[in-house]
Amino acid sequence: MTQDVRSDFSDPAFQADPHPEYERWRRETPVRRVLLPSGMTAWLVTRYEDARQALSDPRLSKAIQWGEDADPIAAATSRHMLSADPPDHTRLRRLVSSAFTARRIEALRPRIEQITDELLAAMTGRDRVDLIDAFAFPLPIQVICELLGVPATDRDSFRAWTTIIVSGTPTRDQLPGAMQAMASYIRELIAERRTHGGDDLLSGLIEVRDAGDKLSSDELSSMVFLLLIAGHETTVNLIGNGVHLLLAERYRWERLRTDPALLPSAIEEFLRYEGPVETSTYRFATEDLEIGGTAIRAGDPVLVSLLAADRDESRFPDHDELRLDRAQNPHLAFGHGIHYCLGAPLARLEAQVAFGKLLARFPDLELAGPADRLTWRPGYLIRGLHDLPVRPGAAARS
Ligand code: HEM
Repeated sequence: MTQDVRSDFSDPAFQADPHPEYERWRRETPVRRVLLPSGMTAWLVTRYEDARQALSDPRLSKAIQWGEDADPIAAATSRHMLSADPPDHTRLRRLVSSAFTARRIEALRPRIEQITDELLAAMTGRDRVDLIDAFAFPLPIQVICELLGVPATDRDSFRAWTTIIVSGTPTRDQLPGAMQAMASYIRELIAERRTHGGDDLLSGLIEVRDAGDKLSSDELSSMVFLLLIAGHETTVNLIGNGVHLLLAERYRWERLRTDPALLPSAIEEFLRYEGPVETSTYRFATEDLEIGGTAIRAGDPVLVSLLAADRDESRFPDHDELRLDRAQNPHLAFGHGIHYCLGAPLARLEAQVAFGKLLARFPDLELAGPADRLTWRPGYLIRGLHDLPVRPGAAARS
């Protein structure tokens, strides 16, 4: 990979609507080199079948030691399951997987409903609110913080840090500060919880750490770091992108409102059509290999465009249409293979509660400005709106 290629990711037109460009790439250069905002060049996989294979290909490793000149975001990700291959990956994932099973997550439903009700109550009577700030963001944050045992008073600080960390375009002086702030916060939190204990997930992990050699100290703080980032930067955009899609074409909102049985398939379709994670995390070829007929050299970094793969015309009939009742929907929004999203059951439950209650409580909810004026967050990792101004309208009795 000697030649540089154009960095489409930083282009505002691309950010506003990357789908036509992704369609062209799927057709013309399905595995293409891209120049990332960090200055690093990587392969980007855009077709569905290639994406699925790449995500589960053991020859593409996630356990990489970064050099000093490498991409700063990736270099800063440390010793957690999403940066590990088996057997480390297996060990790290197993330590928390029991907290994220469908059954354990379902038990959180009453609490998720309660948080949702409180947030919607706070929107009641207001003429205009930013739905991201007032609803889509605080709901998943509160849930993951309660699950982990992060005090409510500290939550505001995270937003600034995680936003910088996943933006994909942090200036060199912002990223180390955010990483450092978050890392030292996590260190203090672990120290505090070790002294006082609790019945949250973090206390459980500390017990595992202290009981033997299953979890190193770096692995413990990295795990907390990963869960906080994953819990902060993903479900917010499932809710935000979904509400945007519903309100931009009002008949969709009305259809879902009058037929809530469509909720599960609608949520899967939001994930496919405008999923929160635009691009997978890095993988590195451990040997020379081919993806979709393109030769990849050992050591080359590979990214998978989940957004592009999930609009692949050869896999999804009416690929560019949002079909709330789509029956077959094997999208890749949660990834695929051994790194398939651990939080998928939680994200789905949060979305079900959030959409169900929002539609019921504010039947007249509408955008407070033209849909095409909304701006998208920069970077190629996360697909989400900066803000989503809405008018809630009158609240229905619950
Ligand atoms: C709609 C919301 C979410 C989406 C779209 C999403 C998407 C993803 C994707 C695409 C991956 C795989 C990345 C790759 O292979 O490169 C992933 C992994 C992961 N996600 Fe999520 N995620 C969401 C919510 C959550 C939540 C709420 C949590 C936990 C609190 C979470 C925890 C994780 C973890 C721990 C991994 C790493 C799994 C592993 O390496 O084995 N995610 N997620």
